[in-house]
Amino acid sequence: MSHNLLAGKKGIIFGALNEKSIAWKVAQKAVQEGATIVLTNSPTALRMGELEILAKECNAEIIPADVTNMDDLKILFEKSMNILGGKVDFVLHSIGMSLNVRKNIPYVDANYDNLHKGLDISAMSLHRVLQTAWKLDAINEWGSVLALSYIAAQRVFPDYNDMADAKALLESVTRSFGYHYGKHRKVRVNTISQSPTYTKAGTGVKGFDGFYNFADKMSPLGNASADQCADYCISMFSDLTKMVTMQNLFHDGGFSFTGVSQEVLDDN
Ligand code: NAI
Repeated sequence: MSHNLLAGKKGIIFGALNEKSIAWKVAQKAVQEGATIVLTNSPTALRMGELEILAKECNAEIIPADVTNMDDLKILFEKSMNILGGKVDFVLHSIGMSLNVRKNIPYVDANYDNLHKGLDISAMSLHRVLQTAWKLDAINEWGSVLALSYIAAQRVFPDYNDMADAKALLESVTRSFGYHYGKHRKVRVNTISQSPTYTKAGTGVKGFDGFYNFADKMSPLGNASADQCADYCISMFSDLTKMVTMQNLFHDGGFSFTGVSQEVLDDN
C-alpha cells in the first residue's frame, strides 16, 4: 500500500544485484511511494543483466559506476541530475564486499591488499559518494543519504571477519560527514543496522545460517526482513524523519539490546 511518502522526490540507488538485494526492495518501494530513481551498480554486477528487469519495472535508467572510482561517481551524479531534471533528494548506499571473506582468509591472517580493497568498497566509498555529491552540489536541502551497516561494527561477531572493521569505518564516516553536510546544506546522513538477511553479500559470510538462526532466537520480534528494511529506508528518505542525522539506527527486531533470550537459553 502506497502512502505517497516520496511524491516528487528523486533518488539514486546503489547496490541492487538481484531480487534478494535490500536495494532491489528499496527501489521498488521508492517508486511505489512516488519517487523517480536512477539505478547504479558496478560494471561487473551489471554484466549479470538482472538489474535490467528492475529498471524496466521501475521505469528507471541504469548508470554503471564502480563506487571506488571518482570519475565514475562524478559521471553518475551528473547524468542522474540530467535524467531526473535536477538535484536528488535521497541516495541509498547498499554496498559491501570483503575479498578476505570471499577467499575464506581468517581475520588474523588478513591479506592487506584485500583489506584495502574491502574497506574502500564497503566504507570509504560512502565518503567518495558524499564528496562527489558535495562538490557537484547534487543533493537538495533536507536530502537523505543512507548506508547499510551491521552490528558487528560495534560488537564482536568473529566470523564477520574484516567486514566488521569496514562497518565501523562506515558508521564513523556517517557521523563525520553527516556533521559537515548537515551544516553545509542540511543534508542528513545515517546508517541502518540490519538483521542478518539472505542475500548474496549476507550468505557469503561463514556460518551465515548459524548467525541468522541465533539472531532470530535472540530478537524479541525476530529478524527483520529485507522488505521491512526497505520500509524503514523509505521512512528515512521521507520528510517524516527530517531531524534524524549522524545516527546508526538498529533495524533488528530488538537484537542489539537483548542480553539473552529464553529461546537461546532453552537451546543449552
Ligand atoms: P547484495 O550482495 O545484494 O548487495 C551488495 C551490493 O554491493 C551488490 O549489488 C554489489 O554489486 C555491490 N558492489 C560490490 N562492489 C561494488 C563496487 N565496487 N561498486 C559498486 N557496487 C558494488 O547484498 P545485500 O545484503 O543487499 O547488501 C547490501 C548492504 O546491506 C551491504 O552494505 C551489506 O553489508 C548490508 N547488510 C547486509 C546484511 C545481510 O545479512 N545481508 C546485514 C546487515 C547489513
